[in-house]
Amino acid sequence: MKILVIGGAGYIGSHVVKAFLQAKHEVTVFDNLSSGKLGNLFPAAGFISGDIRHTDDLDGAFARGFDACVHLAAFKAVGESMVSPEKYSVNNLTGTINILNAACAHDCKNIVFSSSAAIFGAPQYLPIDEKHPTNPESYYGFTKLEIERILGWYDTLRGLRFAALRYFNAAGYDTSGEISGLESNPQNLLPIIMEVAAGLRKELQVFGKDYDTRDGTCVRDYVHVSDLAQAHVNALEAIVKEKKSLTVNLGSEKGITVTEMLEMARRVTGKEIPARYVDRRPGDPSELYATSAHARELIGWAPQYSDCETLISSTWAVYEHLHGEKESK
Ligand code: UFG
Repeated sequence: MKILVIGGAGYIGSHVVKAFLQAKHEVTVFDNLSSGKLGNLFPAAGFISGDIRHTDDLDGAFARGFDACVHLAAFKAVGESMVSPEKYSVNNLTGTINILNAACAHDCKNIVFSSSAAIFGAPQYLPIDEKHPTNPESYYGFTKLEIERILGWYDTLRGLRFAALRYFNAAGYDTSGEISGLESNPQNLLPIIMEVAAGLRKELQVFGKDYDTRDGTCVRDYVHVSDLAQAHVNALEAIVKEKKSLTVNLGSEKGITVTEMLEMARRVTGKEIPARYVDRRPGDPSELYATSAHARELIGWAPQYSDCETLISSTWAVYEHLHGEKESK
């Protein structure tokens, strides 16, 4: 298939591009490089420089004719979405509507969308399945949920088939070392631990040690980015074959605590990784993990790289050479 990967120069997007190329699809990346990196682009994929806020950019891109698009272009900082909702409205909501309209206008009737576990809010039961009530606690999560609903309407009204993939905690790097673009100013646990291990940060602050979990720190479901990437390929092939939209949770189904992640990182890197236990971060649920039974059934997905050691070793392979150099091209 001819596939337009919107946001394909980003952290998850570049892994998605690799997975589609490996599955012998023809890939073109559309990205404004605001957080994506030129160095994340694959020579085998085409590249269009464009912005999802500009309808002309999208119109020009979709006019080239694509069988499907994958949409990963979004702002994703939960905290920032609470102080700058306008930015999230314009990019995540309006930008997505622009994509859907351009796709439909050019008869591109299949889309894979990056949704998030953030749509669920505080868990009412565990593991979280697709029927779990949705009650996002951040504006970021709200944008993802609204887009899922809009996709449902475009399916009904325009025959647009979609796969909504609800990522749990994405982590890790391509294990062959082919992708090494670092996120600028990372906000997530594993890259922060890696920055401490590489000497770029003084210490890890562990948010809360009095949760009702096995060691008092929060439990999350970390899933390797290459496993997530493979899910995009499976999901697209499934909606095309079955002619039916789908929505699935994507997690490893294994809950890991912050302290377990830290201790494993100390073992894998051989570094001390200083850490300090501080107050809870507002809005953090104590435990969050998925069941991916639905993804197994519907798209034949099974994580291969999402064990804690591979998550850390593949990330450390990218960080260990940094020696104070943070930005990548
Ligand atoms: N944590 C720390 N110290 C840090 C950073 C994180 O202790 O410096 C802890 C958090 O309290 C949390 C865990 O590590 O318990 C993971 O935190 P992240 O910020 O890496 O991830 P979140 O679980 O908060 O959220 C992530 C993504 C969201 C997505 C969500 C879905 O950032 O976009 O997973 O589960 F919605």
